[in-house]
Amino acid sequence: MASVRYVRRFSRTERALHWIHASAFFVLLGTGLVLYLPSLSIAVSNRPLVKAIHVYTAIAWVLALVLVVLVGDRSGLGRTFRELDLFDGDDRRWLAARPAPQGRFNAGQKLNAALTGAFAVLFAASGFLLWYGERNTDFRWTSTLLLHDGLTIASVFLVTGHLYLAVIHPATRHALRGMTLGSVREDWATRHHAKWVSPAEREMRSETAARATETRS
Ligand code: HEM
Repeated sequence: MASVRYVRRFSRTERALHWIHASAFFVLLGTGLVLYLPSLSIAVSNRPLVKAIHVYTAIAWVLALVLVVLVGDRSGLGRTFRELDLFDGDDRRWLAARPAPQGRFNAGQKLNAALTGAFAVLFAASGFLLWYGERNTDFRWTSTLLLHDGLTIASVFLVTGHLYLAVIHPATRHALRGMTLGSVREDWATRHHAKWVSPAEREMRSETAARATETRS
């Protein structure tokens, strides 16, 4: 039986950032919804505690992300950022549902990363203003709460789509292995991320294929 080959997709630093962000997000979403919905606030019956969990999770989330960036593989993160930031003709064709080879991130994943990053900054800024506005009324604006609530609703849609593709959709759920163990099957990577699978590896494969052809002819 042919052995299955794996290629490394995500570094430890990338996985740490992902899981810190994901776990903090769900705690903030759960506690935020209790603060937002009066019926849930009444059911929980301890709004101040829920609010404290919300605010301390937010602080821990920001500090943990900064810490991972400081002690982790920063040059690798820089490369990842440049990959995510590059939007080429293949990405535009892919978004128009036309066949186009993709890099380590497909165009949908690039958009998801950009929105997630922007939401994180806006959540932190509006959350900080909600907290500070309670201490200094010059900074208390209705629009801050509207922004914080609007981001919550938009991020529920975004995260639902993300979870569907990562956990349920048969063609894409193998990607979860990349975010947990770090590697994905090479045949899956070649099918979904043809431009990414490393040139050295591609060369090795084509040499092996050439040798096999020579042996056969
Ligand atoms: C750094 C990040 C964040 C900070 C500093 C922050 C801070 C706050 C603060 C101070 C409040 C006001 C609590 C109150 O007095 O009722 C609040 C409310 C809320 N937060 Fe956050 N938050 C952050 C991230 C998030 C995230 C990621 C979500 C959802 C995924 C979220 C959802 C909510 C919701 C739904 C409310 C209730 C707003 C309302 O009463 O209409 N927050 N947040």
